[in-house]
Amino acid sequence: MPHDKLRWGLLSTARINRALIPAIRASRRSELVAVASRSREQAEHYAREWNIPRAFGSYEAMLESDAVDVVYISLPNRLHAEWAIRALRAGKHVLCEKPIATRLDDMDAMIAAARESGRVLAEAFMYRHHPQTLKVKALVDSGAIGTPKLVRGAFTFTISRPNDVRLNPALDGGSLWDVGCYPVSYARLIFGREPLAVQGTAVIGASGVDETFLGLMRFGQDAFAQFDCGFRAPERMHIEVVGSEGVIVVPSPFKPSARETIYLGKSSTALEPVVVEGPEHLYLGEVEDMADAVLEGKPPRISLEDSRGNVQTLLALYRVAGVG
Ligand SMILES: NC(=O)c1ccc[n+]([C@@H]2O[C@H](COP(=O)([O-])OP(=O)(O)OC[C@H]3O[C@@H](n4cnc5c(N)ncnc54)[C@H](OP(=O)(O)O)[C@@H]3O)[C@@H](O)[C@H]2O)c1
Repeated sequence: MPHDKLRWGLLSTARINRALIPAIRASRRSELVAVASRSREQAEHYAREWNIPRAFGSYEAMLESDAVDVVYISLPNRLHAEWAIRALRAGKHVLCEKPIATRLDDMDAMIAAARESGRVLAEAFMYRHHPQTLKVKALVDSGAIGTPKLVRGAFTFTISRPNDVRLNPALDGGSLWDVGCYPVSYARLIFGREPLAVQGTAVIGASGVDETFLGLMRFGQDAFAQFDCGFRAPERMHIEVVGSEGVIVVPSPFKPSARETIYLGKSSTALEPVVVEGPEHLYLGEVEDMADAVLEGKPPRISLEDSRGNVQTLLALYRVAGVG
């Protein structure tokens, strides 16, 4: 790395960029130098709007530029693998939005491209870096609730744009890919292993994608996770971890703010609040994790094996539900 700061380029003008831009700007080890779009006009307009120094009228042009070290891939799900691999082969480090891939062979090709290029590839699961998530995991691992037996989770919201990429089957839309990936990832984190078996059922909407999904995962003889996710219910995010000797309730597990309260107790009627402070910008954790990995050679918090396990579990859930 010739620079002491990571020079970030946004690959697309996606809506989610709005969450990452302030986090990059809040990081002392990062700077936002470029944006690329399929359209030069859109790239230039976006660069002016967000005060970004350089605009590229194609994704390829940004990958060919020496001005960028790290590419943030905020494309629709189906395009993650192709552009992550192209970016890695062009010598860029890559932070790729969740779900990092939607096919196992894509995931394996991404892992191979990262290995061959010697560049960092990481999945952008912002909640995994937040102190609240680390606290819940530490409580469980310390035995605070005995042996974990059940993780219950939900992530739903009401989709408002009919042309949303989440409703497009050709771009691997679908609620399990989009928001179900969070409770699945949370359950795998808590148990620290992959599920042995899964069950699932989906509601396929007029869009052709799963607009509601309910899943069950078995992690052992007496270790389960259950979740629901979807686009056709009010906004709900929730995690409850039930152990042999206690309970942890996480009211805001996936988009925690700078100050959150989780609840811990021997039973659901004896819960005590535990306050957790986090960064001002939820997305700062993934930006700093990337800086640690690229500038200091630390392993990314979310390993590619971990990401592969999530993709594999999501694919298994889709398969048992008869989707795709
Ligand atoms: N971690 C989080 O909190 C979070 C939150 C929201 C979304 N996400 C993830 O971020 C990704 C993008 O989601 P989003 O809602 O921000 O998407 P979006 O606003 O629809 O943007 C997607 C962008 O991809 C580019 N693109 C390239 N080919 C496209 C195609 N065939 N159709 C549509 N767009 C195309 C477009 O940029 P150009 O026109 O500039 O090329 C477009 O602006 C998804 O993978 C999603 O899961 C993560």
